[in-house]
Amino acid sequence: MHPEWQRIANEFIQATSYRVGELKKGWASRYDFSKRPPTYMRYDEAFVRVPLGQPDFPAPTNMWEVLANRRSKRNFLDVPMTKNELNLLLWGTQGITADMGDYQLRTTPSAGALYPIETYLLINNVEGLEKGLYHLDVENWCLEGLKQEDTAEVAYLLTEEQEMTRRAAVNFVWTAVVDRTKDKYRERAYRYIWWDVGHVAQNLHLVGNGLGLGVSTIGHWMDQDMNDYLGIDGSSHLSVLMASVGKIAGGHWLKDRRPETVEVGKSQFRRPDKKF
Ligand SMILES: Cc1cc2nc3c(=O)[nH]c(=O)nc-3n(C[C@H](O)[C@H](O)[C@H](O)COP(=O)(O)O)c2cc1C
Repeated sequence: MHPEWQRIANEFIQATSYRVGELKKGWASRYDFSKRPPTYMRYDEAFVRVPLGQPDFPAPTNMWEVLANRRSKRNFLDVPMTKNELNLLLWGTQGITADMGDYQLRTTPSAGALYPIETYLLINNVEGLEKGLYHLDVENWCLEGLKQEDTAEVAYLLTEEQEMTRRAAVNFVWTAVVDRTKDKYRERAYRYIWWDVGHVAQNLHLVGNGLGLGVSTIGHWMDQDMNDYLGIDGSSHLSVLMASVGKIAGGHWLKDRRPETVEVGKSQFRRPDKKF
């Protein structure tokens, strides 16, 4: 840990705060959208591209009931999630819902409609998908396979052995491509990217709870190792939040809330000497 983290944190807050009269009037409307960095990311080297298509929407859910019953549920069953359930979770967090010509709007809000958040999936137990690391290609609405391996153990290690992660059907890792937002919002972008991902994560909770799935956000993960694992640089493109999702028994939420206590330190996956 950086010994001066408190001073740095205070300076960050000061450096990214606004004061009345400080900003030039109308600066935001003068931003040249035609010069912004690309909004969509695609991996040409993907080992597989899995088209998702339009999700099959279930019967309407009562929003008030979903909100009243929403809980973080982590006691996942060893039961696969369907591809349609995954597609609904992805649509609810990143789906395109309006075309504005040179940019598109999505199911989640984003500061300046700049969409800095990318979605990576550590897939463990989803029907029709090999275990592995995938990236969501939002523009073409497909999953891009990046690594074929047991991602449950990777997630377990990189969340400091949070048991739910190796039982989850899928672990979400959200990253931010900072320049998409920084180009317009400068220093303030380093606030917007976390606000943006919070909205994305909440939509995951609402869709997941609406579908009767367990969802838990994860703030405790080893960022630097995760960035290495994903092959991103950790500064212009960095991991910003995680979440686990999976099938649960669906009885009382207290039973679904946490897996029974397990001994820690039992991971089969050890950090390799080399970087990921
Ligand atoms: C930003 C954030 C980070 C979180 N990180 C973790 C985590 O690392 N592990 C975990 O088990 N729960 C995590 N949670 C879930 C909280 O523990 C949970 O939301 C809280 O206990 C309230 O319970 P509820 O969501 O069931 O209402 C996180 C929640 C948020 C919003």
